[in-house]
Amino acid sequence: MANILIVGGAGYVGGALTDRLLTAGHKVRVYDFLVYEESYRKPVDFIYGDIRDWARLDPHLKWADAVVWLAALVGDGACSMDPKLTEEINRDTVRELSKRFNGRILFTSTCSVYGAQDGLLHEESPLNPLSMYAKTKHEAEKFLLDKNAMVFRLGTLFGVGDTYSRIRLDLVVNVLTVKACLYNRISVFGGDQYRPLLHVRDVAEAVVPNLESKHTGLFNLHTVNVRITDLADMFQKHFPGLEVNRTEVSFQDGRNYQVTSEKAKKTFGFSPKWELESGMLELKALIQADRLKNVATPRHSNHKFLKEILERPASPLGYETPTSL
Ligand SMILES: NC(=O)c1ccc[n+]([C@@H]2O[C@H](COP(=O)([O-])OP(=O)(O)OC[C@H]3O[C@@H](n4cnc5c(N)ncnc54)[C@H](O)[C@@H]3O)[C@@H](O)[C@H]2O)c1
Repeated sequence: MANILIVGGAGYVGGALTDRLLTAGHKVRVYDFLVYEESYRKPVDFIYGDIRDWARLDPHLKWADAVVWLAALVGDGACSMDPKLTEEINRDTVRELSKRFNGRILFTSTCSVYGAQDGLLHEESPLNPLSMYAKTKHEAEKFLLDKNAMVFRLGTLFGVGDTYSRIRLDLVVNVLTVKACLYNRISVFGGDQYRPLLHVRDVAEAVVPNLESKHTGLFNLHTVNVRITDLADMFQKHFPGLEVNRTEVSFQDGRNYQVTSEKAKKTFGFSPKWELESGMLELKALIQADRLKNVATPRHSNHKFLKEILERPASPLGYETPTSL
């Protein structure tokens, strides 16, 4: 039973991972700055802190056998607003982590590092990071390649992670589910672009067997590569009478790629448990039962919420005041 520190553990992935690690019998501690949350309510050791505050973080790194590093500004929109802040949080902290911690590290990167490319992309394929988000995640990966670390390049996530944490409603499957539930209408821009998708709880399934494994290096993780237009067809099956507005106007986000997770499958038997439809249906059930009071609140979207807090005169993410809100 190892001591596991989940850095950024109060987020969408962190919620699912915390539950899964507790079920597996590990001692879990979460370190997070609660950028999007008002409180942390899981019955788990919790440390409120910024990942740039090493005096605060160091004692917890000493306690940990393994660190799962999830903390980041996540998403193209969220990272585009303040490039310097994005570099500090997404890249520079990982450089520092690689110097200060010699235990096991599991790091979440993104398949967005591949950008727009043809073919089935694997871990050695050329990269084409098109955004600050993808660029800083790729730069962070490099600090971990000679460490006792695994870097998971995740597809775009979907589904419900856990009971307490904020559900991100700024991810393609989740966005379409909300729109289909509320308006019985979805819009598909372009639609021919492929995206690799992965259920949020399958991230936890990949982390658990690797906390103490000897594997290192880069691993793509996805369940399925889906064209946005095919997603729309799936929604029509589950929402009778759903109106789908398809437009040829290409979406400004140029990402278009398919990946293979064969390496993860061969190396540690990665086999995603949750299908696309089950993730969509669990979110649909929450919305239809009025369990999400206001899906439009900026808190459900990293970009919208960060925009609000970055526009405040004294931003809580300001570098000078990393520990005061
Ligand atoms: N959600 C996806 O589709 C997706 C896809 C690919 C990769 N990932 C990766 O998975 C990881 C988790 O993503 P998520 O969807 O859970 O995001 P999230 O935004 O829900 O969670 C990120 C967490 O990091 C914390 N955080 C941010 N800045 C911090 C700071 N300075 N100090 C301390 N804590 C800080 C936030 O409070 C939040 O709890 C990220 O590394 C992301 O790059 C996510």
